[in-house]
Amino acid sequence: MGRAVMVGRGPTGARVLVLSVLIVLTAEGCRGQKGDGCGPSVLGPSSGTLSSLGYPRTSPNNAVCEWEITVPRGKRIQFRFALLDIQDSDCQVNYIRLYDGIGPERSEIVKYCGLGQKVDELVESSGNQVTVQFMSGMHRTGRGFYLSYSTTEHSDLITCLDKGSDFPEAEFSKYCPAGCLTSTEEISGTVPNGYRESSPLCVAAVHAGVVSNAVGGRIHVVSSKGIPHYEGTLANNVTSTGGTLSDSLFTFRTNGCYGTLGLESGGVADTQLNASSVWDWNTTSGQRSLWRPSGARLKKAGLPWAPSHSDRQQWLQVDLKREKRITGIITTGSGLREYQYFVSAYRVQYSKDGKEWHFYREINSTQDKIFQGNINYLHEVRNNFIPPIEARSVRINPTLWHQRIALKLELLGCQVLEV
Ligand SMILES: *[C@@H]1O[C@H](CO)[C@@H](O)[C@H](O)[C@H]1NC(C)=O
Ligand SMILES: *[C@@H]1O[C@H](CO)[C@@H](O)[C@H](O)[C@H]1NC(C)=O
Ligand SMILES: *[C@@H]1O[C@H](CO)[C@@H](O)[C@H](O)[C@H]1NC(C)=O
Ligand SMILES: *[C@@H]1O[C@H](CO)[C@@H](O)[C@H](O)[C@H]1NC(C)=O
Repeated sequence: MGRAVMVGRGPTGARVLVLSVLIVLTAEGCRGQKGDGCGPSVLGPSSGTLSSLGYPRTSPNNAVCEWEITVPRGKRIQFRFALLDIQDSDCQVNYIRLYDGIGPERSEIVKYCGLGQKVDELVESSGNQVTVQFMSGMHRTGRGFYLSYSTTEHSDLITCLDKGSDFPEAEFSKYCPAGCLTSTEEISGTVPNGYRESSPLCVAAVHAGVVSNAVGGRIHVVSSKGIPHYEGTLANNVTSTGGTLSDSLFTFRTNGCYGTLGLESGGVADTQLNASSVWDWNTTSGQRSLWRPSGARLKKAGLPWAPSHSDRQQWLQVDLKREKRITGIITTGSGLREYQYFVSAYRVQYSKDGKEWHFYREINSTQDKIFQGNINYLHEVRNNFIPPIEARSVRINPTLWHQRIALKLELLGCQVLEV
């Protein structure tokens, strides 16, 4: 309520209002989606994923749907179909059509229909803009379509449905499009032990923290002999499930900057941990209960950190003493059965000097990133920073919690390479 009043008066308020209108317009332009019956889509800066509504169930009748895709000037766009299942024999009423260009000057590249179609080749545009149109009249079956695109320099673009077992090589590199979390396929496994071969590669790559869902990117995959059991975890807002024995598994080759940064090991001293406030109280038996920042060490027994009261202004700070490259964070809740507190969403701030703080955002994003936190008081949840944070200090700023803010954490990363 307080915020609404502020917007209504004074020059500052007016500016806030205009700015938010602009942001809304830009966001719409970026998505470039018109019409009704369009499924989930992510149009990233140089790759993306589009689908019909309801996929993988039968797509709804009477959908009229258009996406306008623009990549940087001078680049061209290529499309790869994961699924094309549109009931129509002559593409008059139900079809998907790709056009070169946007608006009245556009010209058709290709038009597809038919159930269970396979399009193995990449479809290419001749310019940096494409309109994708999906029309659907009455039909009884047909799951619609699911496709990905990227700029043409990534000729090894795969789709969100390609699985580890689709590639027999022991080691290979592929390009993952943005938006693979629109898929409903399950992944099984985790880092560092690996993912079951049946898992879609690009969804696993988002879970592993090697590419972001918003941008996509290159993955380096290594296959090896399978294991009897795959664990399920929550990481980067993707849930993997447990899985049974398989012939093979895959892992991702990285630059190795995922070491722990010293909270559990004690490499970070108690004096390097600080917080906005501390929960300090006496039990009925007169015993002191002090939820200090030094309790916020992952896997260490004892009370976690908790602030005196729970609101969105609270933070826990880790000062690493010198600049590090920080690639990830693992959190748990209290870890205590008698106090089942946990943080379910948070923002991250970082600073090079301990004075000036910035909220973490993904590349080219206009919004502070909100991380998916814990879902119970006990289990670890990992998030990765893509791109990495390069800073000396970080703060965790909880935005949602269960009962009360309380957490333990570890940071992942490595030294910043001196040039
Ligand atoms: C971010 O935006 C800049 C300028 O618009 C662009 O050149 C760059 O490719 C974008 N980066 C990513 C990863 O999208
Ligand atoms: C720790 O944070 C408090 C604010 O909660 C601040 O007053 C204090 O100076 C900080 N201590 C250190 C050592 O940075
Ligand atoms: C806890 O008890 C101690 C001594 O018994 C007292 O000094 C202190 O103020 C109490 N703290 C709180 C938060 O009640
Ligand atoms: C996590 O993903 C879900 C969709 O699966 C989305 O609704 C939610 O906002 C995401 N959470 C965060 C913290 O981004």
